[in-house]
Amino acid sequence: MTSASARVSNERPFYRRHADAYDELVTDSVESWVAAVHSRVSPRARLLDAGCGTGRHAAAFAALGHRVELADASPALLAQAARRCPGARTHLVDLCSARLAGFDAVTCRGVLNDMITDAERAAAVGALAAALRPGGALFLDVREEGAARRRADGTEHTRTAGALTFTSRTTWRDGLLHVAERYGDVPYEFRMRPWPVTELTERLAAAGLRVAELGPGVGRRTPDRLFVVAYSSPTRMQNG
Ligand SMILES: C[S@@+](CC[C@H](N)C(=O)[O-])C[C@H]1O[C@@H](n2cnc3c(N)ncnc32)[C@H](O)[C@@H]1O
Repeated sequence: MTSASARVSNERPFYRRHADAYDELVTDSVESWVAAVHSRVSPRARLLDAGCGTGRHAAAFAALGHRVELADASPALLAQAARRCPGARTHLVDLCSARLAGFDAVTCRGVLNDMITDAERAAAVGALAAALRPGGALFLDVREEGAARRRADGTEHTRTAGALTFTSRTTWRDGLLHVAERYGDVPYEFRMRPWPVTELTERLAAAGLRVAELGPGVGRRTPDRLFVVAYSSPTRMQNG
């Protein structure tokens, strides 16, 4: 685990100590994302959920008959996902250096914003592309830069999960979202870097992928997300 985003995966209380509260605090629709992917892949697809979190989407893909595998850098979240998807293969990996291959489809939802350096972003997109079989499909959900910047107005949001009171406040500085969280009395700060459309399409092209669809996020309550479908070349040579 070497990348900064993988370190956040191992530190952020949401992904570690309070991983069990994740699904209570993040309640956006699972069904829309799952339906969007399911309608675009073949039956019983070999499908990697890259940055699977608690496995809420992966479990729904498995229930639809797909052969799901789980990847995440957070041991606590990956363990939850594994419990939810019995029999699914798990990969405790840093997506910036993962070497996975042969998938019909890779889904990566709400993950690439966590990669804030150019090197991490290029490495992660490259690793996702390399994980596809020739002709395989990559499904992304990322934050769009302009809309994310407008949303980051410094308003404090408070939610509760059981005994936990969670607050977060997001501001924009130097091209990054600065997120200040509090878990009860415990503070945690991290940064995210949303995606300009041009950077996204350029990095996907550099990784050998063809963008087929790029539009508003699916199943998101806020308007700052993009849904992207990109395909690996049907004649691409397989990596390793
Ligand atoms: C906002 S959560 C999204 C989880 C899930 N995809 C969902 O939509 O509910 C981001 C996830 O990405 C994972 N992640 C972030 N950086 C990563 C990295 N470098 N390698 C592997 N996983 C990473 C985190 O551990 C976390 O599970």
